[in-house]
Amino acid sequence: MVKQIKEVMPHIAFGGDYNPEQWDEQFWLEDAKLMQEAGVNLVSVAIFSWSVIERKEGQFDFVWLDKILDILHSHGIGVALATATASPPAWLSKEYPEVLAVQKNGVAYQVGSRQHYSPNSKRFRYAVKQLVTEMANRYKDHPAVKMWHINNEYGCHLSECYSEESLQAFRTWLKARYQTIDNLNKKWGTNFWSQRYNAWDEIQFPANLPTFYNPSQKLDYKRFMDEAIFELYKTEKEVLRDITPEIPVFTNFMYEFKPLNYFEWAKDMDLVTWDSYPDPREGKPYRHAMHHDLMRSLKNGQPFYLMEQVTSHVNWRDINLTKKPGEMRLWSYSTVARGGDGVMYFQWRQGRAGAEKFHGAMVPHSNNPESRTYQEIKQLGNELKQLDGLVDARTNAKVAIVFDWENWWAVELEGKPHNKLSYLDQVYQYYRVFYEKNIAVDFVDPTSDLSEYQLVVAPMLYMIREGEEKNLEQFVDQGGTLVVSFFSGIADQQDHIHLGGYPAPLRKLLGLTVEEFAPMADDETNTIVANGELSTVDTWADIIKLEGAKSIATFKENWYQNSPAVTIHQYGKGSSIYIGTNPSEAYVDKLLEGILQQLNISAPLSVPNNVEVVERTNNNQTYLFILNHNTDPVTVSLDKGVTYTNCLSNQKVTDEVHIEHTDVAILSY
Ligand code: GAL
Repeated sequence: MVKQIKEVMPHIAFGGDYNPEQWDEQFWLEDAKLMQEAGVNLVSVAIFSWSVIERKEGQFDFVWLDKILDILHSHGIGVALATATASPPAWLSKEYPEVLAVQKNGVAYQVGSRQHYSPNSKRFRYAVKQLVTEMANRYKDHPAVKMWHINNEYGCHLSECYSEESLQAFRTWLKARYQTIDNLNKKWGTNFWSQRYNAWDEIQFPANLPTFYNPSQKLDYKRFMDEAIFELYKTEKEVLRDITPEIPVFTNFMYEFKPLNYFEWAKDMDLVTWDSYPDPREGKPYRHAMHHDLMRSLKNGQPFYLMEQVTSHVNWRDINLTKKPGEMRLWSYSTVARGGDGVMYFQWRQGRAGAEKFHGAMVPHSNNPESRTYQEIKQLGNELKQLDGLVDARTNAKVAIVFDWENWWAVELEGKPHNKLSYLDQVYQYYRVFYEKNIAVDFVDPTSDLSEYQLVVAPMLYMIREGEEKNLEQFVDQGGTLVVSFFSGIADQQDHIHLGGYPAPLRKLLGLTVEEFAPMADDETNTIVANGELSTVDTWADIIKLEGAKSIATFKENWYQNSPAVTIHQYGKGSSIYIGTNPSEAYVDKLLEGILQQLNISAPLSVPNNVEVVERTNNNQTYLFILNHNTDPVTVSLDKGVTYTNCLSNQKVTDEVHIEHTDVAILSY
């Protein structure tokens, strides 16, 4: 039986990617000592080591890796051992060119960078299996190995492949899904534009086409590639489970990553881990927070590890801005506050050669233990040692936002009434309000159990698969409040329209029908009137006919003036609100604020702007994080009559707490 994460790592994990093969052996001992001093307790080793481990087909060199694992272990540092499959060696594609992924234009990718493999290549999967089997057999009993780090950021550079083998695999996948070619024709609506197929081998990729593709075909290609990459992951996982059944496995996810349906992937992972690289000056901290909340939600609230972040600056933007003093530490605490049980970095030592030599690291080129970066790392690593009590602590959210990868794919396919709609922006639009009000939010998929929530927001839920509306109906019927925004309930899983009037599956629940869409030009706005107050709206207007719902805001201008823009409908014991436009931030603030008040959902504390407040609970103990993102200190009033313990200073705190700029207070009670 696989061990629980808290069993193998009873501390907040702290460390990073460690690439000792890029350094002479003389560095290794020094590395381990510096790690120890910095409080590092976990490193990921061998992520990009395939060509060093398997020098030629079937010839393995583990001597260096044995040494490294022994050194790390003797310094009390655990290892998330990578399966080393992320970047295939040159000999592999020379011997077997079919392992290379192929671009739309038929040209194969080449060696010299990384991730150039085709997930559909049987030869590649075979080579992966051989390597992982060797790795697992070699290290199955090594005491340093705490978990397996499978591959690295699947799909990061390459999530589509147009090789002949991929085409065959796509056809096989379609056959399994649709059984008969007639059924496929029906499900793809191929009578449109004379696209009918008589045989499976007539089907091609939705690529290199003169004009619009068939959306059902495109959607299936996205599903197929997601599943192909997932199969590749599972090939590795199965080998590992077989040889090392007790060791947990994971792969590292990315943020805002569209090609892979992470809700599905997470079911096959023992731990969700992900890599976070916000631009330090993007000025939208809620985006960063949302990524954490989404990752925590992928496995029903089970804590995640932040597997990669950077200490200072990356090297892959046009201009790579540096985190200011204290920001790295503060943001790491935000990670922990939002459900992170691991704070890790890319990478331990800043590289000397290669494409990432100017990427920040825990130990910079200067190798100076007095450097700002290393000092901040050391401070954080040693502080985190005091937070063992937090491991596996959970977040108790009363609000959920529906997030659905397939919906993301479908709603952004071409040929829509408005082709600049961004699903993520719509989700951010609603998430931002909760972030700024310090209200905890979980993410759910449309089939999740919603019974623990009081408020569920479903932004732009364009695709509703068969029966999914029942889950939402049940939630509202039993007293929940649901907010749905425009362009929801439009298409089924094939991206075919739900007939019966938009949004057909949600009409009963929302008490309305949308008779027409009226998208707005880039420079066009309208105004809505709610209780005599005016707010600007843009992007979209639904022409709504009420069927039981009540209008709570109407459009002021244009040919649809006075028609409903926002509605509310009592359904069973609850109510559903529909927003048939894209309102200003101020309006969304006000609307959600009213709903939160009515539902009695409030923040743990009231605090000045830019102060983030989050709670996690464990064994009857609550940990209250107060993070000051301002450039000035703040004083925050605490609940009267409660005695808190400051987890970092161990002092008792009552009434109020003073927090310096870019600093945090972690109070338990
Ligand atoms: C990640 C990747 C790392 C490193 C890092 C640089 O996407 O997993 O290997 O390249 O980016 O920011």
